[in-house]
Amino acid sequence: MVDSSKIAALSKVAKQMVAPGKGILAADESMKTVGKRFASIELENNEDNRRAFREMLLTVPGESEYISGVILHDETIRQTMANGKTFVAALQEAGILPGIKVDLGLVDVGAEKLTTGLEGLDARLKEYVALGATFCKWRSVITIGEGMPSEENIRQNAKDLAAYALVCQENGLVPMVEPEVLLDGTHTQEQAETASTRILTALFEELRAAGVALEGMILKTSMVLPGKDSGVKASPAEVAAATLRVFKKCLPAELAGEAFLSGGQGDVEATQNLNAIDQDKDLGWPLTFSYARALQDAATKTWMGRSENLAAAQKVFLHRAKMNSLASLGQYSSELELDVVAGASEVATATQD
Ligand code: 13P
Repeated sequence: MVDSSKIAALSKVAKQMVAPGKGILAADESMKTVGKRFASIELENNEDNRRAFREMLLTVPGESEYISGVILHDETIRQTMANGKTFVAALQEAGILPGIKVDLGLVDVGAEKLTTGLEGLDARLKEYVALGATFCKWRSVITIGEGMPSEENIRQNAKDLAAYALVCQENGLVPMVEPEVLLDGTHTQEQAETASTRILTALFEELRAAGVALEGMILKTSMVLPGKDSGVKASPAEVAAATLRVFKKCLPAELAGEAFLSGGQGDVEATQNLNAIDQDKDLGWPLTFSYARALQDAATKTWMGRSENLAAAQKVFLHRAKMNSLASLGQYSSELELDVVAGASEVATATQD
């Protein structure tokens, strides 16, 4: 059980993360995943280029109007920018909460996956607190397919997420708890709805059993979508209806909020779907975005690794952040896209590692 004196502080940070009109930027890609992003712009994957890439994303003038927090990679939380300032200091000065990805990646268990990183987690979190982190992320991955997700995989991932969340809260860090249902596959939207319901039911059972304070955590899920290779595209209204049916069944009233991942949706698609979900004003929890690809892709393609493109790329980033901010309030409309030329791309990119 988490000390009650800590819960009020956790709840305050969690509320700040999902404050009205704000969402969270995921900028915590592994070196391997950054390599994939860089390959698309023919940029070498080395430390200097990763620093410049993160600097492009994290120092956008006006960013804090739409972005409450940034999930950093272990490399970035220790890195200094070109001007000698740490990324953490720059975020703090901008009024943006620094967060950190703390899982150590995936392992295969048959055709399914579990996430590693519980061993030694407490000591690593203490170091991240000293480095200025205020929240954490742990991503588990669930696959839909023949006989999947299995009960064992759902249960083990739920137990690991709950164990992680508890250690975070004991260290005064708000856990983002992410059971990602992969978009890959030929499954129907109905199958995704059933899988999401099973996953979230098990997850909240395990979170409660572990004594995690639900008012001091943020849930991070996929939207309920048909598989990428199903040949079917759900409309924003269909995505919203299925996602909200699951949430109304599974999410407890105490939960501080939910921040969606984009999961390989096109960037405008991710905005439209969030906007449709946030038309419902009677929900108990703030529902916002915590995108990586859907916030970064258009800016990355404008940047191309060249300093002369920095201002244009940051403008594109700010535009996407603003569009998603409006969507999180249910106030987005596609005419607003015209604000920035080439501000959006419908190109979906491959999943994270
Ligand atoms: P995407 O928005 O690219 O899915 O990434 C979000 C994330 O943090 C996945 O763990």
